[in-house]
Amino acid sequence: MKQSGRFTDLARVVFFFSENRISLAGLVLTTASAITLAWFWVLELMSPHPMHPYTGILFFLILPGFFFAGLGLIPLGMWFRRRKLRRKGEIPGEFPQVDLGSSAIRKGLFIVVGATALNILILGTASFKGVEYMDSTQFCGQACHSVMSPELTAYKDGAHSRVTCTQCHIGPGAGWFVKSKISGTRQLIAVSLKTYSRPIPSPVEHLRPARETCEQCHWPQKFHGDKMVVRTKYAEDEGNTATTTVLLLKIGGRTWQGQAGIHGRHLDDGERITYVAADSRRQTIAKITYKDDKGQLVDYLADDNKLTPDELAKLPSRPMDCVDCHNRPAHTFEMPSPALDKAINSQHISRELPFIKKKAMEVLKVDYPTQEAAVAQIPATLTTFYRTSYPEIYAQKKQLVEAAANAVKEIYLRNVFPQMKITWGTYPNHIGHQDSAGCFRCHDGTHNTKDGKMIAADCDTCHTILAQDEKDPKILKDLQIK
Ligand code: HEC
Ligand code: HEC
Ligand code: HEC
Ligand code: HEC
Ligand code: HEC
Repeated sequence: MKQSGRFTDLARVVFFFSENRISLAGLVLTTASAITLAWFWVLELMSPHPMHPYTGILFFLILPGFFFAGLGLIPLGMWFRRRKLRRKGEIPGEFPQVDLGSSAIRKGLFIVVGATALNILILGTASFKGVEYMDSTQFCGQACHSVMSPELTAYKDGAHSRVTCTQCHIGPGAGWFVKSKISGTRQLIAVSLKTYSRPIPSPVEHLRPARETCEQCHWPQKFHGDKMVVRTKYAEDEGNTATTTVLLLKIGGRTWQGQAGIHGRHLDDGERITYVAADSRRQTIAKITYKDDKGQLVDYLADDNKLTPDELAKLPSRPMDCVDCHNRPAHTFEMPSPALDKAINSQHISRELPFIKKKAMEVLKVDYPTQEAAVAQIPATLTTFYRTSYPEIYAQKKQLVEAAANAVKEIYLRNVFPQMKITWGTYPNHIGHQDSAGCFRCHDGTHNTKDGKMIAADCDTCHTILAQDEKDPKILKDLQIK
């Protein structure tokens, strides 16, 4: 009896103060957005396709915003009314009776209680859905359209295309989630005002340490052994001559003799190497500190280092982790030659077309003002070449020419984004040393200790070269691979 008495008292207060326009508007806003949201979730459940990112922004971020705003307006209106009445001294000593016996009042109360329960449910789902949506590749990659499209394009055909952007860029836990939402809001503003940098600068300065992201899936202690790499390339001659290189990469890791090889020497259970870069792109490494197997710290300095010890001490020192080598794990941008080799290997481009490698290299390196211009010109230039220089081949193998022209165009679209000022080599890959310094930022024979010990730079430090650019490597026959 007592409980229900208190309830009617509270109901009276609520009814009394909520009779104002602001609260009423809030009620309408909340109910309207709640119904739209609920209906949309039903549609989303039934739809076989993921929705368009702009629909996503509307339904997962903006509508819940209205819903929350409406909910907020209800108590706000009550508060205003209370304040106004109190100023005028018009707050009644006793609130008007709410007669629970009356069926109209009972119905009203029932609606209020029901609506509140439903609202709590919607509130939970809306926050959950909103967060889930902001974590999706669709939001990261498509909502900002041209800004992220280079990364999204490159990401789609990589080993990580089933790993979401946020699994590397944010990782688990609340701390980085909040940090990322703060910087994300800043980025959304930059995108709306078009003040973001083109290209987006790399390296990412405040990337979460790889220990907390990559190592959620890749356990560094697991790495061991060598990895054989067989790579076939095509020359820029009439016959697109194929040659093959065979490498045994010393990936290494933990062995019975201790840490060895590429993974083992740089990483351990703790950090092993810290370094100081002289430039913001981390291309010129001025100083490296290495913890050797006995736990001693060894300093390597670049021969051409011009910074004084004081200046060096002021620059940030970065612990080396996965990302210092794997800086392009998910969105690797290719260089023209390896990209073409890959397409010839997979027969998207036919080797039967004379000079196809050379001609494709030429059209890929042209500086087109937009992707649309490239789409128009690349196939046109290639087909014109075969029509005029090799009319017979063109007549016989028109389909191969067209397929090749299309594949070359796709390579361009996959890697060059004039609107973001991204071209060949804008984002170098640190694995290796062919198209950019990569490993040779440190292993270049110019980083020495005071007593003259050098960071290893011999060709067999990191790999054994079993064959280099050979037409028919014997080793592949011996291993019965070919
Ligand atoms: C496997 C992990 C991983 C995934 C998945 C991933 N990234 Fe990255 N991303 C990185 C790393 C590591 C860097 C930093 C490179 C550096 O600092 O040198 C980076 C850098 C970037 C940059 C800065 C510019 C650049 O290219 O260096 C952008 C933008 C970016 N990522 C967007 C995305 C988007 C969008 C997605 C999802 C479509 C995504 N990333 C998925 C690891 C990842
Ligand atoms: C959510 C799990 C997950 C996270 C986080 C993750 N990876 Fe991966 N990674 C994978 C999967 C799955 C594969 C694909 C394995 C396969 O194809 O056999 C892969 C493959 C790779 C490969 C082999 C790539 C190739 O092209 O063959 C490298 C290198 C790699 N990851 C590095 C990284 C680095 C560096 C990070 C952190 C920046 C990272 N991964 C974060 C799951 C993850
Ligand atoms: C010193 C540079 C360096 C560091 C640091 C490094 N890696 Fe690697 N990693 C390599 C190289 C080089 C390869 C071989 C690349 C290739 O296959 O062409 C490789 C290969 C891999 C592969 C593929 C292995 C396979 O058998 O195909 C994975 C996965 C990987 N690394 C993950 C990681 C993760 C996770 C970290 C951080 C804990 C890390 N790496 C740190 C250089 C490095
Ligand atoms: C930031 C500097 C830096 C970068 C970049 C770097 N390394 Fe190293 N690396 C070192 C240092 C320091 C050592 C240890 C030198 C010593 O033994 O005193 C080392 C050792 C090694 C060793 C062991 C050599 C030996 O004699 O046992 C291998 C193998 C290796 N690195 C491979 C690579 C590969 C492959 C890459 C590129 C993917 C790479 N490193 C990139 C700094 C670097
Ligand atoms: C610090 C480690 C390191 C040193 C030292 C090193 N390499 Fe490499 N090299 C690599 C890595 C890592 C790759 C694999 C890159 C990849 O997977 O694309 C590579 C790839 C190669 C390739 C094959 C690339 C391709 O796609 O054709 C050749 C050839 C090569 N190295 C030659 C050499 C020669 C010659 C030297 C000595 C002057 C040398 N390397 C020194 C780490 C090293």
